[in-house]
Amino acid sequence: LAETGEAAWLRYAPIKDPHALKQYASLPQTAVSLDHSLIASSAEKELTRGIQSMLARTLREVPKLPNENAFVLGTVTDLRSRFSELQSGQVTGDGFWLKTVHHRGHAYTVIAGADESGILYGTFALLSRVAQLQDVSNLDDRETPAEPIRWVDQWDNLNGSIERGYAGRSIFFDNGHVRADLTRVNEYARLLASVGINGCNVNNVNAAPDVLSDASLKELARIADAFRPWGVRMALSVNIASPQTVDKLDTFDPLDPRVQAWWSSKADEIYRLIPDFAGFTVKADSEGQLGPSSYGRTPADAANVLARALKAHGGVVLYRAFVYNHHLDWRDPKADRARAAYDIFHPLDGKFDDNVVLQIKHGPIDFQAREPVSPLLGGLEHTNEAMEVQITQEYTGQQRHLCFLIPMWKEVLDFDLHAKPAPTPVKDILAGKVFQRPLGGIVGVANVGLDANWLEHPLAMANLYGFGRLAWDPDLSPQTIAEEWTRLTFGNDPLVVQTITAMQLASWHIYESYTGPLGAGTMTDIIGVHYGPGIESSERNGWGQWHRADHDGIGMDRTVATGTGYIGQYHEPVAAMYESLASCPDNLLLFMHHVSYTYKLHSGKTVIQHIYDSHYEGAEAAAHLITQWKTLQGRVDDERYKDVLQRLIYQAGHAIVWRDAICEWFLKTSGIPDEKGRAGHH
Ligand code: GCU
Repeated sequence: LAETGEAAWLRYAPIKDPHALKQYASLPQTAVSLDHSLIASSAEKELTRGIQSMLARTLREVPKLPNENAFVLGTVTDLRSRFSELQSGQVTGDGFWLKTVHHRGHAYTVIAGADESGILYGTFALLSRVAQLQDVSNLDDRETPAEPIRWVDQWDNLNGSIERGYAGRSIFFDNGHVRADLTRVNEYARLLASVGINGCNVNNVNAAPDVLSDASLKELARIADAFRPWGVRMALSVNIASPQTVDKLDTFDPLDPRVQAWWSSKADEIYRLIPDFAGFTVKADSEGQLGPSSYGRTPADAANVLARALKAHGGVVLYRAFVYNHHLDWRDPKADRARAAYDIFHPLDGKFDDNVVLQIKHGPIDFQAREPVSPLLGGLEHTNEAMEVQITQEYTGQQRHLCFLIPMWKEVLDFDLHAKPAPTPVKDILAGKVFQRPLGGIVGVANVGLDANWLEHPLAMANLYGFGRLAWDPDLSPQTIAEEWTRLTFGNDPLVVQTITAMQLASWHIYESYTGPLGAGTMTDIIGVHYGPGIESSERNGWGQWHRADHDGIGMDRTVATGTGYIGQYHEPVAAMYESLASCPDNLLLFMHHVSYTYKLHSGKTVIQHIYDSHYEGAEAAAHLITQWKTLQGRVDDERYKDVLQRLIYQAGHAIVWRDAICEWFLKTSGIPDEKGRAGHH
């Protein structure tokens, strides 16, 4: 199993390095769990499995604290009464404390959790350190996750297909039912837990109403059972019209008492089957989904009815702010999809119950390779927020192109929206620290499938790994995350670690540079598959992903002065920075402004020359990825070496297709030649 993709970053490859083996020789031979929960028992089994696999040593699991060196698992509260070293020092949330304590002449490697999940997370953290050959002989390490909500969403349909999934069919569903064999589901939950993810919404946000039928719920409970040992709570996407579609009520008006009673009894039924059910995700009044607007009600009206049904059971509602009109009038220069989330949800601030969380996409459009940070993230003071990012690479190469997204998410998390005079980076808003919110977090749309590599491209799994790591600790650097992932996935050979890390860190910029310039959006087919160049497909339709490129210029004027006014949704000084051409960063210029092709960037280049140059540079850099990867032949196993090589060759070819499509189109449209004489000469 160690070499296969399924193990992902939990390969626990046998350690052969003699120095490391010597260092670990003194690790205990015995383990005890003083906590008897299901999750703690997973932790103990995982510890045994990892040590066995990496150090070829079988841990003796004993029931009581032994009179010899041992790994000791338990909650901080329980372990405090035994070990004075744990008296002072707090761990909260799902946090953990790894500590070497000396007690009656023995050395105990203590894995103490703030709760049961903390024990499991601490165990995975310890094993990860061993896999990375770090010293674990004298531990004193306390970690607390930044945010309570660390979820992944799957857009799986009950028929087994996955919306925007690029790695095979659903691990959960087939042919209208939950799969008989849930082995992969159990393995998925284990992977998620290993990076601290504590929730998973298993069905498409474009939710089939029958998910909530009595028969479906019984089947879905089996998924929750498979998640439970790993502390991953199951959530479901629900269709707001369910009372009508599932049970033939003549209405789904959230303010109708019969509708409220329906949701409440549905919630009771769910919790009878799934006592640790996490909650509902809601996509309503969006892209054809029905919603409260059918009855003139607000998203708050709808969210609160669901929230009240779940409240007594400890469930939450993640109400998605991805609500916009996809029949916009493209001729109207004031129409702007980017405004929608803020325009709709900002006025409702303070109207949502405390167990509602607004799930807000990180950018105002839709997971483009470059977008500004959603102003709504800084526009709510009395509402819980979770930020949604996309691990599945819908607009970023669909796992056929390498695109490591951690640097993008990290930029967003660190971005100061100036929601208050003191710094208010997005990560602090999500953690609830800025406005003292009880809940908050981050949700990643993962869409893993039955493919052996979960996400198809072996290097794409760094995005899932990194998502969990950032959700746990948004202060980690992309470099650290890429290095950790590479060590765990490909081993500790320094050349391998250095090369793959460098490739990952460069990849987003490379992808961006051959697909869409200066914040204009990914110039892809907008209507259908969202893959490959499709420069004109975004124009002259109601979807609102416009770049407005014509003979003279390009870009959406979103200024307050002459444009759609979108920039006015930001606080100062962010608004002023974007409003003025002098201070608007080049990489978002065309998102914020409409300029002529001869407009000079801060870089000194004209817009048109930048378009040519960046696409040529990007395609070259994509080809260079192949050269870099080739230095690893013989240093990574053959199977993965060849698999990745093939994909990189394809990517480099497709980057040329992108380059030429975009450069030719702009040459033809602008009539301005490439100074370097390349465009148009292929
Ligand atoms: C994108 C995606 C859809 C998805 C939607 C959403 O538009 O293409 O498939 O349903 O986002 O997030 O709801």
